[in-house]
Amino acid sequence: MTKIVMLLWRKRLKIIMLLMLFFTALVYLLNVSFLVLDCTNANVNRKRASFKESDVGKGHSCTEKTNFVFIKCMKCATETMGTIIRRFGLVRNLNFVVPVKNNIYLGWPFVIEETDYRPSKKPFNILMEHAVYNSTKMEKMMPNNAVYITIIREPWRRLTSSFWYFSLGYTVEPPVNFSEYIQNIQKYDEIYKEPEKKAFRFCFPNGFSVVKNLMAHCLGMPLGFPAGHKDISMNDTAIMQYIGELDAQFSLVMIADYFPESLVLLKRLMCWTFKDILYHSSNVRNHKIQEIIPTDEELKLYYDFSKIDFILYEHFNKSFWRKVQKQGPDFFDEVNHFKVVQLLMERFCFVENNANSKGQFLTIPKSKFNQEFNISSEYCSYMTRYLLEDIRKQYNRNELDGDASKYWYAKEPDKGEIPKRGCSFPLI
Ligand SMILES: *[C@@H]1O[C@H](CO)[C@@H](O)[C@H](O)[C@H]1NC(C)=O
Ligand SMILES: *[C@@H]1O[C@H](CO)[C@@H](O)[C@H](O)[C@H]1NC(C)=O
Ligand SMILES: *[C@@H]1O[C@H](CO)[C@@H](O)[C@H](O)[C@H]1NC(C)=O
Ligand SMILES: *[C@@H]1O[C@H](CO)[C@@H](O)[C@H](O)[C@H]1NC(C)=O
Ligand SMILES: *[C@@H]1O[C@H](CO)[C@@H](O)[C@H](O)[C@H]1NC(C)=O
Repeated sequence: MTKIVMLLWRKRLKIIMLLMLFFTALVYLLNVSFLVLDCTNANVNRKRASFKESDVGKGHSCTEKTNFVFIKCMKCATETMGTIIRRFGLVRNLNFVVPVKNNIYLGWPFVIEETDYRPSKKPFNILMEHAVYNSTKMEKMMPNNAVYITIIREPWRRLTSSFWYFSLGYTVEPPVNFSEYIQNIQKYDEIYKEPEKKAFRFCFPNGFSVVKNLMAHCLGMPLGFPAGHKDISMNDTAIMQYIGELDAQFSLVMIADYFPESLVLLKRLMCWTFKDILYHSSNVRNHKIQEIIPTDEELKLYYDFSKIDFILYEHFNKSFWRKVQKQGPDFFDEVNHFKVVQLLMERFCFVENNANSKGQFLTIPKSKFNQEFNISSEYCSYMTRYLLEDIRKQYNRNELDGDASKYWYAKEPDKGEIPKRGCSFPLI
């Protein structure tokens, strides 16, 4: 246990170092931004950029990868990643696996079935809405050259973020605070999973835990959900074997705790551009709760409760940094440069509020890591919108000749699952 605590404290030190790095980057930014500002002002003109053509990144020295599966799990920066990936596919008119009806999940947290997604005349390019990883099923659905990627987060931070986001303390009267919750996590988790508490849960079925080995579940590890299904949670050999398989099947497991580094690694792996990986972080709120530092005892309690996620995280955090090491010395130059571009975009889109204007654009100059590119106000607005709506419209256009009355409804699998499978708005 003390090892983990030490790791976390080392993490604290790292944060301080990162802060120092941030200020260095800021100085760097100030220098660069004077240069860039000179040209941006000149380039922010009234001409309206045509969205579709100009928003596809150009200038790769390798071939851009467009076929992939992205596995997302709650509270791992996945909604932010979601906006990146949806935008990437939309501006290229790529074929997404779209949930049926107005569902927002592809069967998650159950294994995906044909009745969970709309059929397509063309091969799929991207599977990225909430789905539980299943190599057999996904290999059948996707092209042979599809790449598998995902993102995970340090389990303690994921827990504290979930506690706030899912109001985990509110299923009892009076509500409990975080320290009380963690002291008796088993008890409160059992209460949360009860059928009577379904009104408190956002689309989670009865008997499903969002705090116990959730990342392992999203990655398809058989952990006995739904009840009666295979459960390897007591078999360390089987767990390690499954993690080994994931390691072989996934080209990249990003780490939310090292987000810019993860994005640059993604860019390199997929031959994407800076423009593709720019983001507006969503779902990031209440930093106070996210920064709860555990006592030794609390960390041990959670480790024992959700051990597989800790093992998973330790494994992929190691392989992440091994991959970074193999990138060569200019990797961190690229990360720093990306941070500058990201800040310039944020200022243009959200400080100067061009996301709500029309026809403006910002030119990002060419560098060692990117070709010159423009960010239009339309592109800014794409960073904040819930693009699944646009993806549904794209589906209707491509598959149903734009006739929304032919809107495709699947026969709904009725398994008495509560809340209803697939999750939709308005919540039923
Ligand atoms: C995929 O799902 C099927 C059906 O639920 C299951 O039988 C199979 O074990 C899963 N495959 C893997 C690799 O987990
Ligand atoms: C949390 O709740 C417990 C039990 O109700 C209480 O003893 C404790 O003082 C509370 N802690 C904080 C930080 O509010
Ligand atoms: C544990 O998993 C391993 C590898 O899958 C298997 O060979 C072994 O039989 C399992 N042990 C038990 C007790 O189920
Ligand atoms: C992740 O790995 C890095 C490099 O080995 C290490 O410095 C860091 O402490 C690890 N993070 C956590 C939260 O374990
Ligand atoms: C950016 O927009 C300007 C003005 O329309 C144009 O001259 C320039 O070629 C554009 N750059 C790119 C890379 O599209």
